[in-house]
Amino acid sequence: MADVQPGILAPVPRLGRYLNFSLKAGAEPHQALLKLIDVADGNQAVVGLGQPLVLALGKTIRGLKPFPTHFGGGLVLPSTSSALWCWLRGHDRGDLLHQSKKNADIVAAAFNLDGVVDAFSYSTGRDLTGYEDGTENPQGEKAIGAAIVSGQGGRLDGSSFVAVQLWVHDFKAFDAMSSVDQDNAIGRRKSDNKELEDAPASSHVKRTAQESFAPEAFVLRRSMPWAEGMRGGLNFVAFGKSFDAFEAQLKRMVGAEDRITDALFKFTQPISGSYFWCPPIERVGALSFSLAGTNGPAAL
Ligand code: HEM
Repeated sequence: MADVQPGILAPVPRLGRYLNFSLKAGAEPHQALLKLIDVADGNQAVVGLGQPLVLALGKTIRGLKPFPTHFGGGLVLPSTSSALWCWLRGHDRGDLLHQSKKNADIVAAAFNLDGVVDAFSYSTGRDLTGYEDGTENPQGEKAIGAAIVSGQGGRLDGSSFVAVQLWVHDFKAFDAMSSVDQDNAIGRRKSDNKELEDAPASSHVKRTAQESFAPEAFVLRRSMPWAEGMRGGLNFVAFGKSFDAFEAQLKRMVGAEDRITDALFKFTQPISGSYFWCPPIERVGALSFSLAGTNGPAAL
């Protein structure tokens, strides 16, 4: 299998920065992208291509599409498709700032930097509500099976599809809930991370229990808490071999199946939603991304 961008499978770093780019009107993105690819190693910088960029390159990637606005149920979620996504992974804020500037400068001829999200690991891998996040993530071969495309032929193998949503927490609403209500909303106990056997159907882990779907809906979550001034929440990031598992989970969360909405919505809301394709890396001298396994004219 082609090399996976290693940052996808590695543990969540201490600090992260997410850069979102849009295409400049009439710009030719090919050269700018190649320059970025020269410096992005797939580890300290995981790169994802959105559908607008792939189309501008005259390509299609089987399975890549815009983020849907409606997953069924009564809730309409924001879809904010962007062209290019960089997840910078590190442990020093200064380095991450310099890295962001460098990447933005490299692609400036063709891309606008629309948004930067500063993220970090909190405590022992907790969401800002204090709950452990990532407990039921698949590990090892199961993680690869959930997150990485294989057996699709071409050079789609080794790539990954990532769903990204910026969630903003309403800390006042969360703090107003009793600790029992908070535990019931998540479906786990904050104090010891134990899953509640009698959790209500609206609890987040009941909604998203990966083994309860047919077929099973496993994703590899690599979300990170974020903060800016007094605002904060979770930058939800889920890698999959397709978007199917993520979509199945989100459908249940919004109540499309049984009109029961995930209790998470009582204290947090997404304000963005985008899909990207993270190509495999090829180690030919300098690292380069391939855009093969796609329909359309010659690969990049
Ligand atoms: C602010 C938003 C969110 C927060 C704070 C949050 C938090 C959590 C927490 C605390 C857990 C329990 C521990 C664990 O297994 O990781 C969990 C589990 C999980 N969450 Fe979320 N989550 C959020 C959004 C989402 C979204 C949007 C999805 C997918 C559409 C999702 C999918 C999952 C899955 C698949 C599990 C594991 C379920 C299982 O198999 O037991 N989460 N989440």
